[in-house]
Amino acid sequence: MRRDATPRRYLMCPPAHFKVTYSINPWMDPAKPVDLPLAQAQWEDLRDRYRALGHTVETLVPDPALPDMVYAANGALVVDGRVLGARFAYAERSAEAEIHLEWFRTHGFRDIHEPSHINEGEGDFAVTATYILAGRGYRSSPLSHDEAQEFFGRPVIGLDLVDPRFYHLDTALCVLDGDEIMYHPPAFSPGSQAVLRRLFPDALIVNEEDAAAFGLNSVSDGLHVLLPQAAAGLLKPLRDRGFEPIPMDLGELLKGGGSIKCCTQELRP
Ligand code: ARG
Repeated sequence: MRRDATPRRYLMCPPAHFKVTYSINPWMDPAKPVDLPLAQAQWEDLRDRYRALGHTVETLVPDPALPDMVYAANGALVVDGRVLGARFAYAERSAEAEIHLEWFRTHGFRDIHEPSHINEGEGDFAVTATYILAGRGYRSSPLSHDEAQEFFGRPVIGLDLVDPRFYHLDTALCVLDGDEIMYHPPAFSPGSQAVLRRLFPDALIVNEEDAAAFGLNSVSDGLHVLLPQAAAGLLKPLRDRGFEPIPMDLGELLKGGGSIKCCTQELRP
């Protein structure tokens, strides 16, 4: 199958103040030291790779009091140029929401919705051609799904996450192109697995090993799939489908429980 990349616009936040001082997911261990210069270099590689592929990368100014700000995907969901702000589940991150909203206000976005219900932006929302897929169970409230559906006027499909290691939808499922996705079934409840099988019968099924290596925390532009290099089992199946996988090392960011997708918020025109 012939694949085409389409130019994307991303919002990222440099990990200038990244550290693991609290633990709000099973990957975070405050006793494990973070190599900040290495984290910076890995993040810059990712940013530069996007730019080299022809994508636009906007950046937020990191706040020293918000060590998780590097995970910019959580700050909002942007579809059709409309912005659904985030509302974080944990107090440690709640101030990030307003910083994102302010960035949108000052960068020409007019249609901005400040949410009533907890949602962690693209951490729990994934946009396919037909649907907005929405995770719940650890962070985003099911009520935020209705809120997103009403705001965007797109069908929102609620999915129950059941494995604490895959606490955000973007650790369990990844949109490759249009309505083509890959996901790790055991991260979802039996009913949600059945929904995914029904909606996406041709999905690429990802095993435990590649999912635990954050292989689903990947970003596709329709042709190139930037993925954590440890998820090596995904290279062949992605190539077989006509994609060009690009392995990246974001090992330091994994210490906060995130990888490529977590660091990347897509601004959809
Ligand atoms: N430490 C962050 C948290 O637990 C990591 C967020 C990862 N982001 C993501 N989109 N999954 O909130």
